[in-house]
Amino acid sequence: MGRVCFLLTMPKRAAIVLSGATDRRMDALLTLLSENTTIVVSGAKIAKEIGVTRHQVWRWVERLREAGVRVKGHARMGYHVERWPDVLAPQLLRRRLYGTPFGRRIHHFFKIDSTNTAAMALGEVGEPHGTVVLAEEQTAGRGRAGRSWIAEKSAGIQCSVLLRPRLAPAQAPLLTLVAGLAARDAAADVLDAAPDIRWPNDVLVGGKKLCGILTEMRAEPDKIHYAVVGIGMNVNQAKMPAALQAIATSLRMETGKSHSRAELLIRILRQFDAYYDQFLTEGSAPILRRFAEVSSYFQGKRVRITANGETFIGITAGLDPSGVLRVARTDGRGIEAVHSGDVGEAG
Ligand code: BTN
Repeated sequence: MGRVCFLLTMPKRAAIVLSGATDRRMDALLTLLSENTTIVVSGAKIAKEIGVTRHQVWRWVERLREAGVRVKGHARMGYHVERWPDVLAPQLLRRRLYGTPFGRRIHHFFKIDSTNTAAMALGEVGEPHGTVVLAEEQTAGRGRAGRSWIAEKSAGIQCSVLLRPRLAPAQAPLLTLVAGLAARDAAADVLDAAPDIRWPNDVLVGGKKLCGILTEMRAEPDKIHYAVVGIGMNVNQAKMPAALQAIATSLRMETGKSHSRAELLIRILRQFDAYYDQFLTEGSAPILRRFAEVSSYFQGKRVRITANGETFIGITAGLDPSGVLRVARTDGRGIEAVHSGDVGEAG
């Protein structure tokens, strides 16, 4: 576990099963318990319904407890979930994402190195557009610019989606904007204050980072073979590790209450689907307009840019049609087109 040693089985057109992925029957157990939170379900009934032994049910219940699901055992009667389990169970998500490309293949892990690494591996072996990889915990979560992404187990959303867009690599920055807008809108639904987007796609609340997105792809100069958009959102962390306290926040810290990660993920992916469709049918204009509406970084913001080994100060001057940030340098060297790099507010 923790490493992707694909590939165990690859039946014709069936989903590829990655090593360490949550067992389909374990997922069924979770769904069964989740749907019967008010009653005690007998071990024998569970075993029969999902096709395993009672001993296996007991072992999986132990596993769920380790993952933070509060399952109560009743002597000779069975099990019941004390609290709605906030595990990102694929069966439940699949139903709620029906009709989107994200409801077809969902790979769930209790522990993995990085969902992006797994999704890139799945891209390589031909998994279809819309495949989703989720993890309760990442041991080597990756962020932009070689940084790492650290998140407490089962407190946030760690999700990567595999896309096979018919786009040129030059348009890839727009995928990144699409993902940022989707995550921002989902967060906005549960927050009082409107979240901001720091170009290209950090979602901020009160200037602190709530969500980060890492887009990776395999491409040729004129064709994207596949792209992976990895979304990390801080949801139910009660506090941030000391090193991140000044720069990061969670939805719980902002609202004072816990939120369902499953509901949030469904909102993110549904919004993603809507923006992605809009982008494919209408081009980049509506995406750029929406970005201008919700991001204070779009225009007129004094920023510090670090890109290509150089740091400079400038004032943001909109995005070009492919999503590249335009910045008017304060050192008089004109407008800079920023394709990638670190953007921070300059005091
Ligand atoms: C950043 O802001 O630097 C990007 C962070 C991206 C983190 C997510 S969590 C899910 C996916 N898997 C990873 O290893 N990284 C992304």
